[in-house]
Amino acid sequence: MLEYSEHPSNFEKKDTIQGNGKSRFYGMDIISVKQFRRQDLNIIFDVARDMRNIVERDGSLDLLKGKVLANLFYEPSTRTSSSFAAAVQRLGGNIIQINNVTFSSVSKGEELRDTIRTMESYADAIVLRHPEQGSANIAAQVCQKPIINAGDGIGEHPTQALLDMFTIVEELGGLDGLTVTMLGDLRYGRTIHSLAKLLALYDVKLHFVAPDLLRAPSDLVADLVENGMKPCKHVELASVMPDTDVLYVTRVQRERFEDQSAYEEVKESYVVNNDTMNMAKNRMIVMHPLPRVDEISREVDHDPRAAYFRQMEYGMFVRMALLALVFGKV
Ligand code: NCD
Repeated sequence: MLEYSEHPSNFEKKDTIQGNGKSRFYGMDIISVKQFRRQDLNIIFDVARDMRNIVERDGSLDLLKGKVLANLFYEPSTRTSSSFAAAVQRLGGNIIQINNVTFSSVSKGEELRDTIRTMESYADAIVLRHPEQGSANIAAQVCQKPIINAGDGIGEHPTQALLDMFTIVEELGGLDGLTVTMLGDLRYGRTIHSLAKLLALYDVKLHFVAPDLLRAPSDLVADLVENGMKPCKHVELASVMPDTDVLYVTRVQRERFEDQSAYEEVKESYVVNNDTMNMAKNRMIVMHPLPRVDEISREVDHDPRAAYFRQMEYGMFVRMALLALVFGKV
């Protein structure tokens, strides 16, 4: 693991232009959901709704004309990488796409810090996905341009959490009073780590359902408790289904296991199928950051409560909103 500190000061570092009409998002690194307050989410969601209207009406706009975004991905990605690319292009900007870093100088031994310095000479902001926890923070320390964390190992995935929150608000009308059940790999799933912390800003009841081996890390639970949220831990899903408003399903993160036999042991812990859905409320949603392996049966795709495909589309609008805010254009 890279040396890591929760580093809210990064947030301030490039965030110095307040007072000249720019929002507090201007020039901001997006490293952790801990940077956000409820009012920030309201701003992002309002802009995301505007983006959706504009895309539906016109397809694109020229807010980021002349701006270049670098997508620097050291781990595989379909949705995060292409939705950032689509977002910047729909805003009139351009993208440098480095999807498989083994083809770049990193395969010659270049250090992350040097690669970041290189990309910042060409681009106006960098979206970084990297296998090591803390990497986005380290990148932000050497980079004068905004760094957006697109997943740092088992650490965080803040933009995914923002789009997850937006999905819940758009689908269910709000967050306060909801019961959210997180299922699957709570240990290694970074989307869970970010989303749980963000939910703690609201009056939400949280259930964690996982086999012992995949339980949420104790530092995450401690953080939630400190922020007034006490997740209830379960091994079985059935008992919590009838009360659940949001079922957030995750894939068991095979690539994070040192011991593949341990992966084999837990990989089929849960399968959400029509029987599961029969236990659920009429008004509830099933979410998944995707990719899915076998944890949601394909028969559930036809259920109107299956929100995971709609969730991807919300993601592009949220990423458009974030880019517009970080570049100081709204
Ligand atoms: C997730 C990730 O990369 O953390 N995917 C995504 O960004 N939508 C979830 C996963 O890989 O399981």
